[in-house]
Amino acid sequence: MHTYQLIGPFAQILPMTNLNLKGAIPDEALLVIDNGGILIENDRIHSLGKFNEMLLAAKELGAKITTLDGSDVCLPGFVDAHTHICFGGTRAHDYAMRNAGKSYLEIAKSGGGIWDTVTQTRKATKDQLIALIIQRANRHLNNGITTIEVKSGYGLSVNEELKMLYAIKEANQELYVDLIPTCLAAHMVPIDYSGTATDYLEEISSQLFPKLKAEQLCNRIDAFIEESAYSKEDIAPYFTKAKAMGFDITVHADQFSTSGSAVAIAFDAVSADHLEASTTKEIEALAKSNVIATALPGATLGLGCAFTPAREFLDAGGALAIASDWNPGSAPMGDLLTQAAILGTFQKLSNAEVLAGITFRAALALNLKDRGKLDKGHLADFISFPTTDYKEILYQQGSLKPNNVWKKGNLVID
Ligand code: NIG
Ligand code: FE
Repeated sequence: MHTYQLIGPFAQILPMTNLNLKGAIPDEALLVIDNGGILIENDRIHSLGKFNEMLLAAKELGAKITTLDGSDVCLPGFVDAHTHICFGGTRAHDYAMRNAGKSYLEIAKSGGGIWDTVTQTRKATKDQLIALIIQRANRHLNNGITTIEVKSGYGLSVNEELKMLYAIKEANQELYVDLIPTCLAAHMVPIDYSGTATDYLEEISSQLFPKLKAEQLCNRIDAFIEESAYSKEDIAPYFTKAKAMGFDITVHADQFSTSGSAVAIAFDAVSADHLEASTTKEIEALAKSNVIATALPGATLGLGCAFTPAREFLDAGGALAIASDWNPGSAPMGDLLTQAAILGTFQKLSNAEVLAGITFRAALALNLKDRGKLDKGHLADFISFPTTDYKEILYQQGSLKPNNVWKKGNLVID
């Protein structure tokens, strides 16, 4: 049974279809369809074109026609490829301490930081976590984000990590947005663990990894490579095992010091995220590899530190995604579009580069090939903004919000 819908006209549609995964993109390279229409077949994109020219064929297919007034810009739904929105409590106190002069790593060493959120998340029940995820994911959906990666990593024991990953799985069943779960049991060495970092990782990989597969809880393994977390020596056997079991690898890399990006390359990770501390050497090596670099401007704004050298990375030929890193510690804002626009301002990125970073390049950072572009066969996930010129979207730095969101062909925000 095939159901067709034709939606339009939009003042402009940006399908993001004709662009490379890697390298710089001038705005002139963007395909813009004026007075465009989208024909949907079930939950997928069937075709795009000029609305008026599509009408006859759509009627012959028996399509439902939704006629708009031609005053909006349409884009693929945004993809947030890195968040930690499954957490309990708050870290407003950390934020105040940082602004009073303490560093993120100093706060972590004195028992605050990630461990504080672990304590608060362990106190929450699974149902409380589900409610928190739903609230945050729906806020994202209102801002045009139709796919959200969500990490565990505030449980830090087999059972507490499982609680988080079940909460993510069950929240996903209640939501229009798709949640893409990632296991970040290697977020730090748990303070209450009696063995070494290696013992902990061995326990997680032997006891948790098989459950993740058996219960289909996630297909991605992440680790924080940093002085306060795991070294590249600690993580090598862990990632080796994860890869052998077929998990995708992603890395919190080069946030405060370099070394994580080399681990990402060595393990052929789908993405290396953060990279605020990367120097030209790391940037060039990453740009040559297949690893997608994910800039997290929300962490820059939350910590008051450097932006990821996104311009240098694109000019070196790399694939750049941009994500919010929404978490209670380093990135509490959780506003992807605002952050991506600000990264663009500071790093001198074109509209096309920023929009690519939150659509198809972000989807590929999650190894998802069915979204992020309005292409035949892709999911009918798309959004519209109340403007006739796409350049208004980033110019307004996140204050222009989408007026409509379609997920898998359904109008979910009106
Ligand atoms: O991506 N860098 C490590 N992990 C998170 C922060 C988590 C936290 O501080 O709670 C990040 O910035
Ligand atoms: Fe993160």
